[in-house]
Amino acid sequence: MHPNMNPDLAGTALRDALAARTATLKDTLRAIAAEFQPVALANSLGAEDMVLTDLIVKEGLDIEIFSLDTGRLPAETYDLMAEVDKHYGLKLKLYYPNHESVEILTRNHGINPFYESVELRKACCHARKVEPLQRALAGKQAWITGLRAQQAVSRANLPEREFDGDNGLEKFNPLAGWSEKEVWAYIRLHGVPYNKLHDQFYPSIGCAPCTRPVAIGEDVRAGRWWWENPDSKECGLHVRKA
Ligand code: ADX
Ligand code: SF4
Repeated sequence: MHPNMNPDLAGTALRDALAARTATLKDTLRAIAAEFQPVALANSLGAEDMVLTDLIVKEGLDIEIFSLDTGRLPAETYDLMAEVDKHYGLKLKLYYPNHESVEILTRNHGINPFYESVELRKACCHARKVEPLQRALAGKQAWITGLRAQQAVSRANLPEREFDGDNGLEKFNPLAGWSEKEVWAYIRLHGVPYNKLHDQFYPSIGCAPCTRPVAIGEDVRAGRWWWENPDSKECGLHVRKA
């Protein structure tokens, strides 16, 4: 098990910090839903997104929840989608890549183009994630993500609220200041369903061919696109001006 994933819930400091964080998060989500309609959570089925999903469902907030099914997700992620349905009675709204874009990409560059170059990796992410995201966000006033500042060098200084100029709407990252420990403490405390790959040293999970386990002490995103430089490791869902 990943060292951060089984925090000692008896630790009162952690418990108090989590209670305060959770109360603030509830207020934040409620305020977003009151001010921005329609609004949606982008749920990758990662640990952070499961925390947000749990609160949105339990508080009955008017926030749509969607996932981008790239067609290359690990089996465990599809299992979790089914578990979310069973546990919460929630059918995630799934968005799929445009079939012609994927056909062109794979006919020209093979089934696994992402290992060839950063350009082809980005082209695959564009076809399988970015374009479907644009459709998911069309007509929305705001969207919510599970991004945290501590996840990567490219995410340091992540604000809780920003304007997403590419998609033309407000973007909220309400877990920006949360630690990995706090995320896992919430999941344990509330019995939230989570991706079983997290128990196999996968702290961050994307598509199967582009995700691998990390070693103890390694960065949480070290297993994502591990063959690339850390500063190029964003898929285009989260574009930020330097
Ligand atoms: S990624 O951009 O490199 O893939 P990461 O996996 O860390 O990002 O996820 C960051 C946030 O992006 C998630 O909390 C979620 O809000 C959104 N996201 C990423 N992948 C998906 C997906 N497949 N479906 C919906 N949202 C996603
Ligand atoms: Fe393609 Fe890999 Fe990006 Fe998934 S993460 S869309 S498989 S390049």
